Amino acid sequence: MQNRSIIIDCDPGQDDAIGLLLAMSSPDELDILGVTTVAGNVPLELTERNARLMCDIAGRADVPVYAGCAIPMQRDLLTAENVHGKTGIDGIEIVEPEKQLEPKHAVDFIVDTLRSSEGNSVTLVPTGPLTNIGTAIQKDRSILDAVDEIVLMGGAMREGGNSSPSAEFNMLVDPHAADIVFRCGRPITVMSLDVTHQVLATAERRDRIRAIDNRAGQATAGMLDFFNRHDTLKYSSLGAPLHDPCTIAYLLAPQLFEGKQCNLTVETESELTMGHTAVDFWHVTDRPVNVQWMYEVDADGFYALLIDRLGRYRNG
Ligand code: RIB
Ligand code: CA
Repeated sequence: MQNRSIIIDCDPGQDDAIGLLLAMSSPDELDILGVTTVAGNVPLELTERNARLMCDIAGRADVPVYAGCAIPMQRDLLTAENVHGKTGIDGIEIVEPEKQLEPKHAVDFIVDTLRSSEGNSVTLVPTGPLTNIGTAIQKDRSILDAVDEIVLMGGAMREGGNSSPSAEFNMLVDPHAADIVFRCGRPITVMSLDVTHQVLATAERRDRIRAIDNRAGQATAGMLDFFNRHDTLKYSSLGAPLHDPCTIAYLLAPQLFEGKQCNLTVETESELTMGHTAVDFWHVTDRPVNVQWMYEVDADGFYALLIDRLGRYRNG
């Protein structure tokens, strides 16, 4: 497994937070240049606070955290407290993090970091609305030369919409930013609901996580207990889909996933289908391939990886 330099752009939310804990558990494989935060599941002042709290829990004071865009590029902000709770990470005790926020704006951090990076050397890992990434590309398109791959959570085809009949949350919040990203020309791997709905946090899996005797394991179990209540009712399922950690799991163990090259185009005009990800899965158009669309995951292997990596933390 080669060492990747990554920037995680997120809107914690319990699943983003667990993705951060998974990423920070693996310093030998993932060199986290920075964590950038964006408004999404909850407003920006909470997503940045929540990201900093995960750095405390992970004992990773070395990972810089930046606050980014507080509203989408063109639309009003849509949040999801009904799913994540008022704090965004309900399920654990919320304290003011020791980790301090970096003064630089997240978009400036992304632009400055990519401008000073070698070609094809940085992987972007967005797990929230794409406002920061789209804004950075709009600010200076040349930064894309440094982007090796974008591995993002968002969209849906077979699973339909979770935030409108047609759209997944991250795409619906900022479809205009998403459109910029999907047209950027760099390799993009998409972890959509079609994949994340296969990795359910069942009671058995949550019990195994609860048995992990460290702060990261206990925080993950607590967040999952809360995160589970909404989606198990919504989907009549045995557990909530653990969306965002799929991006990190792909970086650590790509063999767990299966996908194919497709065209993905985002709806940015129709209010009825705003944010819909139109995936040409069967290549019925001549639209150019622009994503690796993941559609299969070894769910048991995913949770075995998550539990193994969370177990690596040595802080009681
Ligand atoms: O639709 C699920 C996605 O929206 C996840 O990234 C979740 O954290 C929210 O951001
Ligand atoms: Ca998210």
